[in-house]
Amino acid sequence: MAPARQTLAPAALSIPQAPREFEFSDADFRALAKIAYEHAGITLPEAKKNLVYGRLSRRLRTLGLFSFEDYRRYLVENGEQELELFINALSTNHTKFFREEHHFHHFVSDVVAPFAAAHPSGGRLRIWSAGCSTGEEPHTIALILHAELKNIASRDVRILATDIDTDVLRRAAQGVFSAESAASVPAKYRGALSKSDDGESVTVDRGVCSLITFGRLNLMDDWPVRGPFDAIFCRNVMIYFDQPTKARLVERFTDLLRVGSWLYIGHSESLIGSHPRLKLSGRTIYRRTA
Ligand SMILES: C[S@@+](CC[C@H](N)C(=O)[O-])C[C@H]1O[C@@H](n2cnc3c(N)ncnc32)[C@H](O)[C@@H]1O
Repeated sequence: MAPARQTLAPAALSIPQAPREFEFSDADFRALAKIAYEHAGITLPEAKKNLVYGRLSRRLRTLGLFSFEDYRRYLVENGEQELELFINALSTNHTKFFREEHHFHHFVSDVVAPFAAAHPSGGRLRIWSAGCSTGEEPHTIALILHAELKNIASRDVRILATDIDTDVLRRAAQGVFSAESAASVPAKYRGALSKSDDGESVTVDRGVCSLITFGRLNLMDDWPVRGPFDAIFCRNVMIYFDQPTKARLVERFTDLLRVGSWLYIGHSESLIGSHPRLKLSGRTIYRRTA
């Protein structure tokens, strides 16, 4: 009789996983994902389980906890205070100067230049960087405005920069960046950057920094924000939200835009279908038309 063919059981094929430092069950993951969604609109599909483990492990270590079940209990018992640190740990903060540069070319030609032409001096201009992370986005806008507008100090020009994450906001408000990250600032806009003696960091001049008002704002909550804005940048933020949340946000942003002004969103966030008040006017650039 021919010998039975040997087959490898799936378990024998799978690569053994290193034991985790903390117990982290599917139920833990689902419970934490639900809190992130309900509080910040952040959707965490099953595929993000390892990422969530990695980002929260440091928090467990700091607190001296042994499992994610303990952490869930701690989160419930410590309310808002821990919720803030939980969201800080979970949020994705990647950003850079002049990210998606075509937006800034458009901003110069279609926002700043018409403003300068209409107002040789004075004039009011309002820009919002919603989900500003560590500040490269609002500082990019400030460097542009400083370089492109004459007598900016005598004009009513303000940039509002908000984020849910208090850690990144603290860093953003300092206006100090690594020289490496500032290397992507074009020469034309480097006038307001000073290099440190060791060449490791750059500081944005106080006058330019002071064009920006930083504040914590959860986009899921009420917005204590008065428009109208001449441009809103909400880029690489809505990517973490589901479609209904994203659609609601776009409506709220549109309400705050002056008719004729602009919404810039991230490259992978384009709005599906036509919108009654927004017209696609370039790659991920929308203009309020009504
Ligand atoms: C990837 S960064 C984008 C930074 C910048 N806009 C850019 O495109 O380079 C996403 C930011 O959105 C923020 N964020 C996530 N959920 C938020 C919410 N519900 N309200 C406000 N900000 C949120 C995160 O804290 C994070 O700093």
